[in-house]
Amino acid sequence: MSKIATLEIDGNKYEFPIIKGTENELGIDIKALRGATGGVTTIDPGYKNTGSCESAITFLDGEKGILRYRGYSIEELAEKADFLEVAYLLIFGELPTAAQLEKFDKDIKEESHVDEDMKKILDGFPKSAHPMGVLSSLTSALIAFNPGSVDVDSEEEMYGAIVKILAKFPVLAAWTMRKRKSLPLDYGDNSLGYVENLHKMMFARPNQAYEANKIVNDALDKLLILHADHEQNCSTSTVRIVGSSHAGLFASLSAGISALWGPLHGGANQAVIEMLEAIKADGGDTAKYIAKAKDKNDPFRLMGFGHRVYKNFDPRAKIIKKSAEEVLGDLGIEDPVLDIAKGLADVALKDEYFVQRKLYPNVDFYSGIIYRALGIPTEMFTVMFALGRLPGWIAQWREMRLRKEPIGRPRQIYIGENYRAFKAVSER
Ligand code: ACO
Repeated sequence: MSKIATLEIDGNKYEFPIIKGTENELGIDIKALRGATGGVTTIDPGYKNTGSCESAITFLDGEKGILRYRGYSIEELAEKADFLEVAYLLIFGELPTAAQLEKFDKDIKEESHVDEDMKKILDGFPKSAHPMGVLSSLTSALIAFNPGSVDVDSEEEMYGAIVKILAKFPVLAAWTMRKRKSLPLDYGDNSLGYVENLHKMMFARPNQAYEANKIVNDALDKLLILHADHEQNCSTSTVRIVGSSHAGLFASLSAGISALWGPLHGGANQAVIEMLEAIKADGGDTAKYIAKAKDKNDPFRLMGFGHRVYKNFDPRAKIIKKSAEEVLGDLGIEDPVLDIAKGLADVALKDEYFVQRKLYPNVDFYSGIIYRALGIPTEMFTVMFALGRLPGWIAQWREMRLRKEPIGRPRQIYIGENYRAFKAVSER
């Protein structure tokens, strides 16, 4: 395999090194392109062919359906690890020892309060506000209560900022839901594990003892692990690019939350359930909606199907499908919306349109189903995704800063007007 790529423009040849990743992925290093060619750039809307960085965090192979965090397969991590271990692994690169894990857990618990004044900010939002907007705003607001930038070269300062946000984020997430439900704000219970405490903060009633449910906690733990990182997706790229201007960690995360909100990204899990509800309200005719999804004159898309990277199957969807079946069975849940989901998946998986385009149910198709079975309100689904993705965003931000990456600043090809002389308003 050549180590050089040659580009020819108007008879002039330019050579660029080809770099190889540890999984033999190849990339043409075009850092010198503009300088060498006198300003020629590349154009790649949606960055389908553009590598924005070198990263040692997550490996995925969309064709083979492989997803690994720091070398460990998602299947093994989902089965054997818990969310905090995975968070530590993603952020610091190695699975924690028992002592490291104990310290990590303790340090997070130490930071698990949120300034009381944050409640005043939350109070200002209408109850109808979408929890993702509220969460993004509250994450930004945290900066005001934790001023001072983090010296990324100080391991201690970085560690402090990391445990702070891992501790406070679940509180903010739970508060966004409690506000919508008119429940008093709850600080949880530090004697519980991270995920169990999150569940308690979301669901505890003021007049009722909280009862943990192992099935629910295990399912939540797994969901968070499956969402914990996914290399350079839209929200992660956002976190990295915002951080590349040396904006702080919390500010970068807040931007990532906004990016995740969109229905083509993390918002898809909410869109899945809304779509299933709409199909149910319309008589439950799945064939009609499959036909709509295939009709190029109809903007309707089957939410929860297709993926930018996975063109074979989404390994997370495989794990979560099994988990969804277990949770529904164990909790004895029967729900017509879930029957519609199953019907839709069965038809689509055999339909030529979907098979040809390699459109398989993605992780969001099943995660929405489990969240619904666990009693999590639809508008909180993307917040659950954000809770899972938090360690990935942190790991990617930290890596970007430690590698001293330059500010992210893509180029463009200008297609607007050429120079024109200004006309006074009376002449227009
Ligand atoms: N329903 C119907 N047709 C679809 C769907 C769908 N869900 N997804 C893709 N297609 C079709 C497109 O119309 C296109 O058809 P064509 O080749 O005849 O024009 C072809 O499949 C390729 O689609 P693209 O949009 O080019 O694929 P891309 O990789 O850009 O998009 C995406 C991926 C955004 C996920 C897309 O499949 C989609 O919109 N899916 C629904 C939303 C969704 O579930 N998003 C969650 C993604 S997972 C995550 O963020 C965790």
